[in-house]
Amino acid sequence: MVPTPKPYHPLEINQNPGVSELERLDRSIFPPGWGLEMYTSLLKGERTHGWILETVEGNGVGFLCFQRIDDEAEVLRIGVLPEHQGKGLGKRLLEGLLAEMGTHGDGKVFLEVRESNETARKLYLSCGFEEAGRREKYYSNPPEAAVNYVWSANISATEQPKTDHSNSPAGRE
Ligand SMILES: CC(C)(COP(=O)(O)OP(=O)(O)OC[C@H]1O[C@@H](n2cnc3c(N)ncnc32)[C@H](O)[C@@H]1OP(=O)(O)O)[C@@H](O)C(=O)NCCC(=O)NCCS
Repeated sequence: MVPTPKPYHPLEINQNPGVSELERLDRSIFPPGWGLEMYTSLLKGERTHGWILETVEGNGVGFLCFQRIDDEAEVLRIGVLPEHQGKGLGKRLLEGLLAEMGTHGDGKVFLEVRESNETARKLYLSCGFEEAGRREKYYSNPPEAAVNYVWSANISATEQPKTDHSNSPAGRE
């Protein structure tokens, strides 16, 4: 007999989590992570936001970090804890952002990803992002090209983001 999959516990997106909880998830998914100092600095500004997908008990299972200026957003990081990957949670986080940006007629979301990150690239395509260019040697450790994606409420994939990179980590992913 095929076992019935266990129902997933209800999960909610916390749009105002603590910095240390964000940093802890970041470190678990992207070791060694950006660190508390970087997160504190990023989230001090009004443009950078961190969301955590968490259980009703308040345990974080994934997070999204993005910058937003008016009707444009740029994803800086998206991650789901390894034991929870492949269950639709990354998609849920990203679709939460797209739903917000979709309320603007001209809403756009930009991101870039390592060329070899096929799982993430599939996620972006499945959420309606389109490829919008490639940057050679954008990442280091190891060096690798970045592929740029854009999602548009109007499906236009030609523009560059106007988000503020002055306090963003280089080679973010
Ligand atoms: C990339 C990541 C955020 C995706 O989150 P996830 O919860 O595992 O993905 P989901 O279950 O929501 O799947 C969304 C889509 O991704 C694709 N996908 C997910 N897991 C996959 C796998 N193991 N292999 C191939 N494709 C996969 C599927 O196309 C899926 O869409 P579909 O269900 O409509 O077919 C997650 O795997 C992760 O945290 N990876 C490590 C960190 C990272 O690389 N982040 C991205 C760069 S910042």
